[in-house]
Amino acid sequence: MEQYIIKGGHPLVGEVEIGGAKNAALAILAAAIMTDETVLVDNLPDVNDINVLLDAISGIGANVHRVDRHTVKINGKGINDVNIEYDYIKKIRASYYLLGALLGKYKRAEVALPGGCNIGSRPIDQHIKGFRALGADVDIEYGKIMAEADRLVGKHIYFDVVSVGATINVMMAATMADGLTIMENVAKEPHVVDVANFLNSMGANIRGAGTDVIKIRGVQRLHSTEYSVIPDQIEAGTFMFAAAATKGDVTVLNVIPKHLEATIAKLVEIGCEVEEFDDAVRVVSKGDLTSTHVKTLPYPGFPTDMQPQIGVTLALCQGTSTITESIFENRFKYLDELARMGANVKIEGNSATIEGVKKFTGARVSAPDLRAGAALCIAGLATDGITIVDDIVYIQRGYERFEDKLRGIGGIIEKVETEKDIQKFKLKVS
Ligand code: UD1
Repeated sequence: MEQYIIKGGHPLVGEVEIGGAKNAALAILAAAIMTDETVLVDNLPDVNDINVLLDAISGIGANVHRVDRHTVKINGKGINDVNIEYDYIKKIRASYYLLGALLGKYKRAEVALPGGCNIGSRPIDQHIKGFRALGADVDIEYGKIMAEADRLVGKHIYFDVVSVGATINVMMAATMADGLTIMENVAKEPHVVDVANFLNSMGANIRGAGTDVIKIRGVQRLHSTEYSVIPDQIEAGTFMFAAAATKGDVTVLNVIPKHLEATIAKLVEIGCEVEEFDDAVRVVSKGDLTSTHVKTLPYPGFPTDMQPQIGVTLALCQGTSTITESIFENRFKYLDELARMGANVKIEGNSATIEGVKKFTGARVSAPDLRAGAALCIAGLATDGITIVDDIVYIQRGYERFEDKLRGIGGIIEKVETEKDIQKFKLKVS
């Protein structure tokens, strides 16, 4: 099993290039099969989740041609199966986007109930509500969601909770429904807008993405396009908090600063200097940082996917901080690991109280999920001693060349597999 071993205690300094947004790319790749013409998607992150989804897409008969590490051509003409097998879906939650894509295009889809990161119960009732509203029969049998319609017809749909997944999934199906769909109380995340822009570039007629109401006039067919995925705001935010926690000076390149507003606001609140450029943001962390309060919310609120990264940083800030996690109920597991490194935390329900400490001590910890895993690496980088992070397979699902990028800004981190590798690293850094 691969692990990261980290010798921390050094400020991270330098520039780091941010890749394409994983969560936008996953939905865009699923949507790419909705035309029989060839679609080129660029600025893909080369991470496990993307590769698994591409396997699932080629598994149902689409032609998937990897042009290079970050570019793929997809042609959905040869699709001969609308059944997404359990193995794929178990590995990545986002294969549920194939439900909306297949239902829209073929009016039929069968997808096993999704797995993904273990951060909460993650129901999909709002996806199903949307598909049913468009006229599909949706049943759950034998662990699969089966959706089928003679025709999909545009409807007025009100979502009971703001869900990124339901917004994108129902938007995809409605793109090829007859007539007008109005979706209310939708998610406004940058990746919702990116998927809408992508579909529009294929000939869809979607208006209002990025606001609370999305209007979709269905079209009969979609056509080829070439599209570049937006930068990953969560990858960028992860490096920005790594700069804060290690008292560093890091510039994230190839970002859209507007998408990082909530992250930037919190960094400024705790005492970092943040400089915004057209497509870059510099974070400088000097002296003592101070506590703050955080509540995760749908965009433009503070992202739940940034909660562990800020949590680790707050554990090193002077004073008492609180975090309220209002999106997923099971996102504090990293704090138990952090406590093993000396953090002073108390969890009650969906709130955590963090009493800042001067420093952590190195320990062997385990990544409970993708973002929490990255956050524990930040903790290791801010710690004088040696930290070993287990279960890094979670981190590899969503961060491309994570250790290389950290090394590029001065992080001492290596991927190891054996006790011998660990000893070698310890000798090298001692
Ligand atoms: C997506 C992201 C994930 C991020 C999350 C919130 C992907 C692959 N994953 O997940 O990284 O943390 O957005 O920004 O893009 N809910 C329901 N019923 C539903 C759907 C959701 O009650 O049918 C609830 C969820 O339990 C959660 C909230 O709505 O409390 C938000 O979930 P949602 O936005 O759907 O998250 P995902 O799309 O699964």
